[in-house]
Amino acid sequence: MRVGDTVRRPHQSQSYAVAAYLDHLQRASFDGSPRYLGRDRLGRDVLTFVEGDVAGAVIDDRFLGDDLLASVGHLVRRLHDASAGYLARDEPFPRRIGAEDQPEIISHLDVTPQNVVVRDGRAFALIDFDLAGPTSKFRDSYNAAMHWVPLLHPTDVRTGVELGDQLRRLRVFADAYGWSADERASLPRFGADAASRSWDRMRERAASEGGGWARMWNEGVGDLIRRRGEWLLANEAAIVRALGSPEASED
Ligand SMILES: Nc1ncnc2c1ncn2[C@@H]1O[C@H](COP(=O)(O)OP(=O)(O)O)[C@@H](O)[C@H]1O
Ligand SMILES: [Mg+2]
Repeated sequence: MRVGDTVRRPHQSQSYAVAAYLDHLQRASFDGSPRYLGRDRLGRDVLTFVEGDVAGAVIDDRFLGDDLLASVGHLVRRLHDASAGYLARDEPFPRRIGAEDQPEIISHLDVTPQNVVVRDGRAFALIDFDLAGPTSKFRDSYNAAMHWVPLLHPTDVRTGVELGDQLRRLRVFADAYGWSADERASLPRFGADAASRSWDRMRERAASEGGGWARMWNEGVGDLIRRRGEWLLANEAAIVRALGSPEASED
């Protein structure tokens, strides 16, 4: 809920870990995230409101341009650079099923079109750090690309984006973020593996936590994730070819 220049959100177990991370990002001069201002009299988290446009559940054309996609890649790269060296020792994040044993960084982990504030056609800020936590740069950037390209089986594409567009857009993201040659070569298998872990985790959460997780599961998110994994493997060669090699300037 918006209140003046602020947003009020339900307080959660990881809210203080997120707050400490947002403080770190501010100290690192990263300007693409809200600031945590504390809790109000009702106990809700108070964050700064970030002015701009955010996609709705159905992604409209304004959020499907290649320039915006490239700017998302740049924003995620800047987030990772700003997150380097932050270990969250004082406010640890709750341990998640499937999390890396040796995480490289803390990052957002949910860079969907609904969680990016767009201004003047560019990705301006990330909001909704509910899933933030320890991860690897490749996992978080892959995840952002997955949502924004999007990497989906044709059955699940709702936006008119076709295979040719998906391959082109994946390359746009790869060059904007700056994936290495190894990362590009491993992407389809990495994505298929991520899909299979995600399927397990979503089923587990639907069963143990119910609520929104159970609703998503009943709406068929598990099938969509399984189809994504199959699609990535079926198109492995085309995807790796489309990703090409990093531009010299990105090395
Ligand atoms: N700090 C913020 N600045 C601007 N808008 C916000 C902010 N936080 C949330 N919103 C708006 O509220 C919507 C839902 O908030 P979000 O934090 O993403 O919660 P949810 O967990 O429901 O996805 C966002 O899509 C965005 O439109
Ligand atoms: Mg959200």
